[in-house]
Amino acid sequence: MARLGESGLVVFVPYAVPGDELEIDLAEKRSSFARGRILRVIAPGPDRIPPRCPVHFAPGRPEGASCGGCDWQQLGYEAQLKLKREIVVGCLRRLGGLKDAPVLPALASPREWGYRNKVQVPFGLHGPRGDVVAGFYAPGSHRIIDLTECAVQPDLSVRMLLKAKECLRRGAAAGAAPWIKHLLIRLNGENKALAAIVTKSQTLPPQGRMLSEELRKAFPEIIGLHHNVQPEESSVILGPYWRKLWGADALEARLGSFSFMLSPASFFQVNSGAAQLLYDEALHFLREGGVRFDLALDLYSGVGPLAFWISRAVRSVVGVEENHAAVEDAWKNARRNGVTNVEFLAMKTEAAVSRLAKRLEGRVVAVADPPRSGLSPAARGLLRHPAIRRLVYVSCDPATFARDVKELARFGYKLLKAQPVDLFPQTSHVELVGLLDRVLTWDTASVCRRHVSSQGLTPVSRDWLFSSKVQTRVDVQQFLEIRIGEGHLDLALLGRLSGLTALH
Ligand SMILES: C[S@@+](CC[C@H](N)C(=O)[O-])C[C@H]1O[C@@H](n2cnc3c(N)ncnc32)[C@H](O)[C@@H]1O
Repeated sequence: MARLGESGLVVFVPYAVPGDELEIDLAEKRSSFARGRILRVIAPGPDRIPPRCPVHFAPGRPEGASCGGCDWQQLGYEAQLKLKREIVVGCLRRLGGLKDAPVLPALASPREWGYRNKVQVPFGLHGPRGDVVAGFYAPGSHRIIDLTECAVQPDLSVRMLLKAKECLRRGAAAGAAPWIKHLLIRLNGENKALAAIVTKSQTLPPQGRMLSEELRKAFPEIIGLHHNVQPEESSVILGPYWRKLWGADALEARLGSFSFMLSPASFFQVNSGAAQLLYDEALHFLREGGVRFDLALDLYSGVGPLAFWISRAVRSVVGVEENHAAVEDAWKNARRNGVTNVEFLAMKTEAAVSRLAKRLEGRVVAVADPPRSGLSPAARGLLRHPAIRRLVYVSCDPATFARDVKELARFGYKLLKAQPVDLFPQTSHVELVGLLDRVLTWDTASVCRRHVSSQGLTPVSRDWLFSSKVQTRVDVQQFLEIRIGEGHLDLALLGRLSGLTALH
């Protein structure tokens, strides 16, 4: 980002690096901002490096001719980490209303390259001869940039893609239509793969069966091939219909001390090494201060990794996940890993709210890992429940995370720490985990203290404050509603003021 001359207009310049001196043209100008395109790097910023990928953006290359896959390859890795932290700080300031957000330095991915365990690559036809192309889209378009190598993928998935393209080119030469939309490839750390051919049509054409057989012959590493049907023309890659063509239903992937069976449609973090760091941090936050929780909610639980990670630190875990295949995987994964204190509900979080609310007793911690849209209003409503003392929030979008932090402050949640973890090296995508604890306010503290003295109960314990008997009283009800007064008062401070035992 730069500012333009005297007007101070903000100019966003994709592929710029802090400290660059650039010649740009203004590709787009609006009243509040402009977008620039780099024509020439006059003097590179200190962190600018040559990108590895041959189809990465290069100054002067025509718009739409470079791959939109990894937008930060021109930035040194240390600088990427620094910038990701700054993005989180910026979002929390602008959207979360936090001036000095407690954001820790970003944790590096164990691998900077070759880390992706899953790709979904679009296929199409280009040019007057209708050549088959496969690769990622140019930025902001659906134009496929043909891929010949890809440094964020392991070698196996690149070889599979190139083989599929070669096979389809032979088919296309015989006049075949672009019947395939995407090829999905999922790998585990042991060089095994599960793949899926995504088509618009319900039936796989003869060329599809040929592709399936050629891949089977060429790659003993592929343990199963599936067919997915996506009849819609939308940005959602996978459709609702699945059929196994041959081989295994699911791929086994190891993460930490757990083993996961993954169906082709189930969500699983794409960078296994960094995901392990992320889950370790989530567990660390859950245990912060040595608090023991009776129940943990794992909202948006996928195939269960967070549930398993935290299962040793709490009495029981209830996961909620809308994808039925992922929930089936999660139950199987629980059995195969001998984790007996977890259960999973196959439904939307929004639909599970009243069912979950009835079960919230004792000390409850919530763990949430929503999609980019963040927590829905209904999910935030559930977090208002007084039994929930702590939220460990895993986010892949710092903007919606910051919005939710602000919204949750109304229910007494305070962000104590945010830890970015780099799951997506060479790209601007940011992943983080936040620790939010329930705090009291001056307002509610005085209600509590009045209540405490009117009852002649001093000192009182935190458990007393949160016990169900007390929740029915009007004054404590007010406390539980947690209306934010001017300043926050955390439980430790309240403990000193009124004789309450602090949370930590
Ligand atoms: C970012 S993933 C996290 C999954 C899991 N925690 C993990 O680490 O692998 C988000 C998950 O939320 C699920 N999901 C999306 N919207 C949902 C909703 N409204 N209710 C429940 N699950 C939802 C998706 O299917 C996906 O599995």
